[in-house]
Amino acid sequence: MGAPKGDNLTWHVGEIEKDARAAAYGHRGAVLWFTGLSGSGKSTIGHRVERMLVARGAFAYVLDGDNIRHGLNSDLGFAPEDRVENIRRIGEVARLFADAGALVVSAFISPYRADRDRIRGLLGDGEFVEVFVDTPLEVCEARDPKGLYKKARAGEIQNFTGLDAPYEAPTAPEVHLRTATLTVDEAAAQVIRYLEEHNVLGES
Ligand code: ADX
Repeated sequence: MGAPKGDNLTWHVGEIEKDARAAAYGHRGAVLWFTGLSGSGKSTIGHRVERMLVARGAFAYVLDGDNIRHGLNSDLGFAPEDRVENIRRIGEVARLFADAGALVVSAFISPYRADRDRIRGLLGDGEFVEVFVDTPLEVCEARDPKGLYKKARAGEIQNFTGLDAPYEAPTAPEVHLRTATLTVDEAAAQVIRYLEEHNVLGES
């Protein structure tokens, strides 16, 4: 958390403890932080995870890259400092949701390791689950679902992640999805299994 600009601000502590919220929802709050190249499958797998979680009664919600850039972050582009601010704001939103008891599925490229680690630092032990959607650049580019790699190769988009902007892969993600050998359902199931094995999800 950064220091506030204004004076005379006090953090108000509520009456509901984390455990009480977890008991009410049947699971703890957590952030499932998906990271990977554009076209790697973050949104697709993330939405499948959300569906599986909601089907078992969980309070789950996807924060999605393109959607957030239409609203909260519509003032931000793709220059390095904009990406840092994009991820900073989303991290704060994700933290609030997790504090409210939700299982937040965030699906942003989030190319910088330091930014992801900063968000990990905002959350408690076990509340930040980094999910590396590991799809090789060649595969993302061949898929090119939005035609953006083609535009970037043609010089119509600058600072495109994986081409002329960096992507720093996680070194020790909690969940490593090697999508070349997984279907969407299998990848989503791997995330759910992690949550079960690490007591984020209760018995169902
Ligand atoms: S992040 O780098 O700041 O985390 P974010 O996930 O919000 O990126 O947005 C990525 C999406 O924006 C991509 O999936 C793609 O649709 C679109 N996009 C537009 N321009 C770029 C660019 N220069 N680099 C990467 N993605 C871009």
